[in-house]
Amino acid sequence: MSSPIEQRKAEHLELCIRGEVDYREITAGFEKYRFRHCALPELDFAEIDLGVEFLGWRLAAPLLISSMTGGTPQAGEINRRLARVAQEKGIAMGVGSQRVLLEHPEVMTTFAIRKEAPTIPLLANLGAVQLNYGCGIGECQKIVDLLEANALILHLNPLQEAVQTGGDRNFKGLLTKIGVLCRALPVPVIVKEVGNGISAEVAKQLVEVGVAAIDVAGAGGTSWAKVEAARAQDARQQSLGAAFAEWGIPTTQCLEQIHTALPNIPLIASGGLKNGIDVAKAIALGAGLAGLARPFLQAAHESEEALARCIDLILEELKTVLFCTGSATPQVLYQRRSLERL
Ligand SMILES: Cc1cc2nc3c(=O)[nH]c(=O)nc-3n(C[C@H](O)[C@H](O)[C@H](O)COP(=O)(O)O)c2cc1C
Repeated sequence: MSSPIEQRKAEHLELCIRGEVDYREITAGFEKYRFRHCALPELDFAEIDLGVEFLGWRLAAPLLISSMTGGTPQAGEINRRLARVAQEKGIAMGVGSQRVLLEHPEVMTTFAIRKEAPTIPLLANLGAVQLNYGCGIGECQKIVDLLEANALILHLNPLQEAVQTGGDRNFKGLLTKIGVLCRALPVPVIVKEVGNGISAEVAKQLVEVGVAAIDVAGAGGTSWAKVEAARAQDARQQSLGAAFAEWGIPTTQCLEQIHTALPNIPLIASGGLKNGIDVAKAIALGAGLAGLARPFLQAAHESEEALARCIDLILEELKTVLFCTGSATPQVLYQRRSLERL
């Protein structure tokens, strides 16, 4: 018999693999930008280097497998596939919320991916709201240690919690608690949304209390209100999820506004990125890393090879953008300012 939390995880996976859960009306906004083509790149394609530094980590490319799963046997298999391919490609990887681990330590095997990915940055994950529901510094340190993680990601998901019947809705006092955690933990704390976006105002508050990086996780990709509507057991959750299916700040808007307000804060772009051209546009808009969730989940569900092919294609597309804008590295792509708003 699986617990309610494990049951929820299984439903989330199933819906995100097969369901119609993307935003329909809102887009992440990448189609509103175009790169200025450079007909004379003066570069050898073979010498283009996608390598980047982020929070002191050296990565082979500015790519992140965004936080997704853990806690069920299927999630364990997906996590292992994601971890092996992330290691092979030299990119970073997050796991899904580890709250389930605190209540059910027996599911640790589904998160035990360090042996599959010995050298890449692995990012632990917990809902920030859990700081109001019994999780303190000790629990956060524990989930970091269990994963042998290089950072802790706290996710902010007020809409998802509000839509979920019985969701954890007391978000009072979280900023102070996040600040305390940032000072107490030996690893960086990153804060992300789950697909509704982070405004410049909220980003400023987070940075002021010591958050090391922000993942905007904006609107335009997976809509968690839609996911929660689709798995609803009652009319309230179904109607509320449907009403808020298109709620949120588009990813490109978050990036532009946060990068303008806080040009030095390490930024991760996620929410609705579909290919290497979107990744390139995110970098040009100020992101140091670009994260994808559902597209990688769907590929990993098919097979490890499908995931490797999916990532190779994204990297080839990114390299092609660098080539055709005359940029030898992602950093040069950012500096050249060859992205135009249509
Ligand atoms: C199956 C699934 C489970 C997810 N679980 C978590 C989670 O536990 N913690 C978290 O921070 N984000 C979680 N997310 C959100 C993603 O990290 C990401 O922010 C969001 O899906 C937007 O990216 P996308 O449009 O590329 O899917 C999950 C996403 C998917 C698809």
